[in-house]
Formats: sequence, structure tokens, C-alpha cells
Amino acid sequence: MERTFSIIKPDAVKRNLIGEILQRFERNGLRVVASKMIRLSREQAEGFYAEHKGRDFYEPLIEYMISAPVIVQVLEGEGAIAKNREIMGATDPSKAAEGTIRADFALSVRENSAHGSDSPESAAREIAYFFSTIEICG
Ligand code: CMP
Repeated sequence: MERTFSIIKPDAVKRNLIGEILQRFERNGLRVVASKMIRLSREQAEGFYAEHKGRDFYEPLIEYMISAPVIVQVLEGEGAIAKNREIMGATDPSKAAEGTIRADFALSVRENSAHGSDSPESAAREIAYFFSTIEICG
């Protein structure tokens, strides 16, 4: 079983889409094994997205991520990392496949409703950034 890290982002939380998004994960065989709602501090958001520092979208991304609460979660399942990315669709909603979370709900390439880890290394880092071992119910 593989684990991945997921964020339901501010634009989706603000528009009451938490249930719609969770349903897509659960229907596709991903299990929520840890979950919490938090309002990210600037430091937490900057640390999480440190790899993007210096890119032109970085500052607006940080402002957006701290603009409202998010749901951070750990999802478990076979091939969870790839499966989560498939369910989310491409980063840019105009390029996301039909029926994906981003195609159906995202407002823009920045306000794209969900985040998912892109590799086993990112998943391990991102899970550990938000959750301690005892908070994950495997
Ligand atoms: P995410 O998967 O969380 O990873 C980095 C985030 O930066 C991405 O989703 C988008 O929210 C944002 N992002 C990536 N590329 C761009 C872009 N070209 N313009 C604006 N925001 C972007």
C-alpha cells in the first residue's frame, strides 16, 4: 500500500466542495488515513512550497494558500500517488482531462482546488511536514 499527501485548497474549501472532492478519492479506491483542517501560516506555506521560491507564481501562490483554511490529508491505496494525480487532473485546469477534480472545480492554474504529491520522495516529505506518525491511522 502506498501513501500520498493531499491538500483540498482554499478555493475548494470556500466553495463547500470538501465532500465532492473526498467522494472522488474514496470512489476511486483511496482511503483517508489522516485528515485535518488548518489555516496555514505564511511560514508553513512558504516552507511547503520552498521548491518554487523565486518563480513568478510563488508570492501569489503563498497569498492564496493562506487566504482561507485547507484540508490536509494522507491518502492510502495501491499506486496512491499516481492515482491521486489522475483523479486531480493536470495542474492547469484548461489542460485537465474531463471528469477530473481540476477540470470540474478549479478556477485557474493557481486556484486549482487540490494538491497531490508528485513522487514517493515528495509524499514522504509532505506527509511528515504536516503529520506525526501517531496521527496516521494506517
Ligand atoms: P500544486 O500542485 O499545489 O503545486 C504548485 C502550485 O503552484 C500549483 O499546484 C498551483 O496552485 C501553482 N502554480 C503552478 N504553476 C502555476 C502558474 N503557471 N501560475 C500560477 N500558479 C501556478
